[in-house]
Amino acid sequence: GKATMEKITSLAKRRGFVFQSSEIYGGQNGAWDYGPLGVELKNRIARNWWKEMTQLQDDIVGLDAAILMHPRTWEASGHVENFTDPLVDCKKCKTRFRADQIPPENLAAKKCPECGGELTDTRKFNLMFKTHIGPAEDTANIIYLRPETAQGIYVNYKNIIQSNRMKIPFGIAQIGKAFRNEIVTKNFIFRTCEFEQMEMQFFVKPGTDVEWFNEWKKRRWAYYEKLGVNMNNLRWHQHGPDELAHYAKDAYDIEYLFPMGWRELEGVHNRSNYDLTRHTEFSGKDLQYIDQEANNERYIPFIIETSAGLTRTLLMVLSDAYDEEKVADKGNDDDWRTVLHFHPTVAPVTVAILPLMKKDGLAELAQDIRKELKEDFATDYDQSGAIGRRYRRQDEAGTPFCVTVDYESKENKTVTLRFRDSMEQARVPIAELGERLKKEIKE
Ligand code: GAP
Repeated sequence: GKATMEKITSLAKRRGFVFQSSEIYGGQNGAWDYGPLGVELKNRIARNWWKEMTQLQDDIVGLDAAILMHPRTWEASGHVENFTDPLVDCKKCKTRFRADQIPPENLAAKKCPECGGELTDTRKFNLMFKTHIGPAEDTANIIYLRPETAQGIYVNYKNIIQSNRMKIPFGIAQIGKAFRNEIVTKNFIFRTCEFEQMEMQFFVKPGTDVEWFNEWKKRRWAYYEKLGVNMNNLRWHQHGPDELAHYAKDAYDIEYLFPMGWRELEGVHNRSNYDLTRHTEFSGKDLQYIDQEANNERYIPFIIETSAGLTRTLLMVLSDAYDEEKVADKGNDDDWRTVLHFHPTVAPVTVAILPLMKKDGLAELAQDIRKELKEDFATDYDQSGAIGRRYRRQDEAGTPFCVTVDYESKENKTVTLRFRDSMEQARVPIAELGERLKKEIKE
């Protein structure tokens, strides 16, 4: 609780989770850099999603397709024609608005909601970044940065069926960068021009799509439960007819209660046979599936998609983990702490090793313990300052476990294992530390 966007942004910068892109030049709008703790958190969220969606799913395989795709892809996908925002500008104060986000009476009267000046006509603004490939900057050389990772999966669907002998129903998972020329990029890393998606496309037989759609809604909800998210902060939102994307037959968003309110975190879409039908049409290649178990019946599969933002999930994980607590643990005069209650599987540092003193061989013993643990865990080491202060620093980085090495450690080969959330401490034999941590992470 108590997370405001300001507090999260400031903690993220202070502790090296997220920095503004090109900050020394005044920053680049819509782009962010992930610092030492941020890149660990992002990689772990990605790895956790990948495990859930591939390793733990028998019928899903992975892919890493290129960001640059043949420009016909985006004609086929409908993005050249339909992937637009309606924009209006104020001629007087020059503010730019999305037409669907200003009061309808202002739009009708062409009156700026900010200054009362005259608004331009509404125009469609395509969100795809467009550039040229090769030295000639002419229309024949236009290339787009992909606005979603999904299309890389669709154009490879036949390759994967052939190379991996996949049988319907099956899925293809992918994590990667996507780019959108977003006009409104406030709210930290929530909506950016460069971001990452974690998408899975599940290919099913027509007629079984509604059943699979419901199944994937269930599985994606269970994923967030397993990740330890506060489920009171999640809800479903079904798209109404006006909200449905050009490809969608039915769509539900999983929304999260971000500091600025309920916002989309992930979309689960029934894309029907729209994508593969269009790619058949535009490529001239037969993208029908031949069902060898049903008399070689041919059909274009329906696609159920689960599409989550990786960088947006990171913001969700940060908001969900953030807390300020009044505490009364021993050895501390400061009775407030800021703590990130990350799930141990995504925490950037799993265990910090803290020698009570540098002298008398405690630092050396602590280094030896770290050396043992770092094969299996992300570790940190800190030998400076009061132990209470060091716990606070680890709490703020979201480190779930601290190991304190003291004089007793030298005598009886045990250490103190301190738990971030309960702040409880247990005495553990050094030889059992690794196994104990693995057990704690699993629980
Ligand atoms: N392939 C389907 C698709 O791209 P979307 O609803 O446009 O659907 C899916 O995007 C997810 O990608 C969103 O739920 C969000 O988490 C993330 N996302 C989309 N645009 C984003 C942006 N500009 N910045 C950060 N994340 C974004």
